[in-house]
Parts: sequence; C-alpha cells; structure tokens
Amino acid sequence: MIVKSALFVKSATRPAHYPEGDLPEIAFAGRSNVGKSSLVNVLVNRKNLVRTSSTPGRTQLINFFQVNDDFMLVDLPGYGYAKVPLSVKKEWRPMMETYLSKRKNLRAVVLILDIRRIPVEEDVQMLSWLRAYSITPIVVITKCDKVSKNERAKQTAVIMSKLGLEKTEVSFFSALSREGKDGIWERIETQLQPPQAEASPEPDAPSPSL
Ligand code: GTP
Ligand code: MG
Repeated sequence: MIVKSALFVKSATRPAHYPEGDLPEIAFAGRSNVGKSSLVNVLVNRKNLVRTSSTPGRTQLINFFQVNDDFMLVDLPGYGYAKVPLSVKKEWRPMMETYLSKRKNLRAVVLILDIRRIPVEEDVQMLSWLRAYSITPIVVITKCDKVSKNERAKQTAVIMSKLGLEKTEVSFFSALSREGKDGIWERIETQLQPPQAEASPEPDAPSPSL
C-alpha cells in the first residue's frame, strides 16, 4: 500500500455524525492500551496521526482517518479498562454495536490482541459479534517485541485456543520493529476490493429453447 496522504476526518459517537459518502472502512478494535492507535500510525507511516497514550482508555470516540482518496481507517474506543468512568462504559456498548451492525461502509475489523495476555471476555465477545454480523475479522497479535520466540509460540497457542482461531488467521505485529506491517496491509487490501459481481451468463450463449 502506498500511503500518499492520511488525515483525520472527524470523531463520532453516533450515525448522524459518521462521515458522509461511501468510502470503504477498516476499523480497529481491541482492549484499552493494546496498541490500536499505534498500529494505525505505523500503517500510515506517521508518528502521531492518532494520539497514543500509556494511560488506558484514551480513545473514547470513533475516530475516522482518510487514506489517499480511497478509504478510511477507523480507530474504535477500547474496552475492558476498569478505571474508565461508568458513564463512559455504559455508552461504549451501544456505540460499538450500532457502528458494527449498521455501518454499510465497513469492510473488516482488525481485532488486536496483546501477545502477553490471555484474551478477556470482551475479546471473545467482539469476535462473536463480528461473526454474527458477517464482518471479516483480521486478527493481529501485537507487542511481539516484548516476548522471546519461545514465549511467542506459547502465548499464540493460548490465544488461538481461547478464541478458536487457526494459526493462518493471525498476523504478528510490533509497533517498535514494524514487523508484520506489510502482511497486515495485504489483508486489509484484500478486504477493500469491491465484491466480485455475480457471474453473468455468456452474452452469446444460446437461449434455452422452449
Ligand atoms: P486506547 O486508545 O487507550 O484504547 O489505547 P490503544 O489501544 O490505542 O493503545 P496505544 O496505541 O495508545 O498504545 C498504548 C501503549 O502501548 C503506548 O504506550 C504505546 O507506546 C505502547 N505500544 C503500542 N504498541 C506497541 C508495540 O508493538 N510494542 C511496544 N513495546 N509497545 C507498544
Ligand atoms: Mg487509542
């Protein structure tokens, strides 16, 4: 993917505020502090397009970023952080469910997991929401720089069994080393292709005789 431009378009909490138009969207979901915003920044080669923070729960809105003239990357608010105020937690679920179930532009969700952690209940639920709404999940295991090779293999097995995933369904990533960036772009680009049209009959095929 050649990123010529990447710009912040707007933040939204509800459909009336989503961007107009029909650019396809790829959203990024995962627990607070997992590294969603860092992944988006690496993909678009920008240090600070999306604000990152060591304080979990920083991103509480749906943030839309346009890449080239072609598509949007959508940074979703994280889940599972205990210290986020209850009022914010209550808003999270309907905000996410509405976006995931109603947004026609949405082509896939990159679900991000931390290589060091066992997936939490919200991760399991997110994956089953995606399956229920027939949204393609692109599962990314991040912060791979933080573990040894052995630890990576061990943790991957734990994560896959908890989520019922095959090894071919996960991509490994590190925002520090940028490992995995190209592979993740390839998976995103596949989802951005327009759906194949239904095969139409040959134009000169003989019409069925009556
Ligand atoms: P919220 O918006 O709060 O939900 O967090 P987020 O998922 O967007 O995480 P963010 O990208 O802000 O990263 C959280 C912290 O993890 C920051 O301190 C990042 O520098 C760090 N981080 C993110 N990705 C990596 C990675 O691949 N390796 C290492 N070592 N640190 C990372
Ligand atoms: Mg963030």
